[in-house]
Amino acid sequence: MSNHQDTEENVTDKKKILVVGSGGREHAIIWKLRQSSRLKEVYCTPGNAGIAQEAIVFDAPYGDNFSELIRRARNLGIDYTIVGPEAPLAAGIVDAFEAEGLKVFGPCKAGAMLEASKSFAKEFMEAAHIPTADSQTFEVASDAIRYAKTLGTPLIVKADGLAAGKGVVIARTLEEAVHAIRHNLEERQFGEASARVVVEEFLTGEEASILAFTDGYVIRPLASAQDHKALKDNDLGPNTGGMGAYSPAPIVTEELMEEVNEVVFQPLQEELQKRGILYRGVIYAGIMITDEGLRVLEFNARFGDPETQVILPRLENDLIDLVEAVCEGTLNEHELRWTDDTAVCVVMAAGGYPEHPLKGAPISGLEEVRYDDRAMVFHAGTTFDGNDVVVSGGRVLGVTAVGRSLPRAMDSVYREVERIRFEGAQYRRDIGRKGLARL
Ligand code: AMP
Ligand code: GLY
Repeated sequence: MSNHQDTEENVTDKKKILVVGSGGREHAIIWKLRQSSRLKEVYCTPGNAGIAQEAIVFDAPYGDNFSELIRRARNLGIDYTIVGPEAPLAAGIVDAFEAEGLKVFGPCKAGAMLEASKSFAKEFMEAAHIPTADSQTFEVASDAIRYAKTLGTPLIVKADGLAAGKGVVIARTLEEAVHAIRHNLEERQFGEASARVVVEEFLTGEEASILAFTDGYVIRPLASAQDHKALKDNDLGPNTGGMGAYSPAPIVTEELMEEVNEVVFQPLQEELQKRGILYRGVIYAGIMITDEGLRVLEFNARFGDPETQVILPRLENDLIDLVEAVCEGTLNEHELRWTDDTAVCVVMAAGGYPEHPLKGAPISGLEEVRYDDRAMVFHAGTTFDGNDVVVSGGRVLGVTAVGRSLPRAMDSVYREVERIRFEGAQYRRDIGRKGLARL
């Protein structure tokens, strides 16, 4: 067990960290890094208005070759780069950095395919005997429609590639399924991402997010979390990137966590090794707990958003120790430790989100919010307009509170949320309620 947080030697062993991304997830990562005695400097590209108050932010647009970003990282003397979003991972940022001798927390391009191609993930799960919904992959619409008819409704149609969270359609009728299939395969709704579709059986149950760190050798599951994908209370309204989360999720019992490790993470690790894919970073399993047992709905190759905003506040380890262990392949030397607290994050979204988020509204009340280790505001779609913080994206803020219990954390998060105001703000009033029912 290496726990050198407080030793002399370690205090001199300070690191410069670069975080890539601009959301609440990246803000939470930076907030946690700043609690480390091992942090020399934290940088972020491109960041947002909240991140700019805690990290040195800069713009370095990256095409597919990442050369400008690599040049900046090298000039700054960055020790470790942490990649937040999926797009740069899928475009090969890790391979590009490593080819230049730079260390990155995140999977290589081949590993990121677990998120970037749903058909790849399906084929991989089948090979590894990981429980998942029955499905088939198609490139020809008539074949996909024929299979859809055998499934009956409702059923699920998924664009194969990355579609910014908009690629999954729950088809209530066969007409809706046909429409979604044609939209993808014939009209290329999401461009290349629509070249294939996965047609899948509809599962019912409750969802949970189980994330894990891996260094390519061992897997260490993180504390459980539950996201709230629908825009409105009681899971009504359109799907979003996530309107709130809490951790731990009482539905994920210790036994279930062990089962996820046994039937998902261990076989995943073995299959990655079998295929010669060195996967380092976070693997995120979105699971559905059905009456017939757990099923994996999807893998993400990164930290979840907003799950990270409730998981990291409960992590007792020094995040730099863990980032280092993941990058160096020494994760076996670390056990993860969690507080007994519950964390709740409520996302405040822009008016018009998710379809047409209204930008530019000034945000007030931010200075009235408590900002300590029990309450914080993680910024996402914010920017500066002069001295004002204004809305610049769909999900604007992730207000997070930590409490001794779920009800207390819920009370305290909503107390903070109510201090913040901007025109058109939308947020759910029931984040955590599903968990209450299980306490
Ligand atoms: P995915 O990006 O694959 O996780 O899908 C996004 C959301 O669609 C999930 O979080 C679920 O709410 C829903 N979903 C995906 N696959 C299924 C399925 N087979 N059955 C029911 N709901 C699903
Ligand atoms: N919260 C869902 C995601 O990060 O994909």
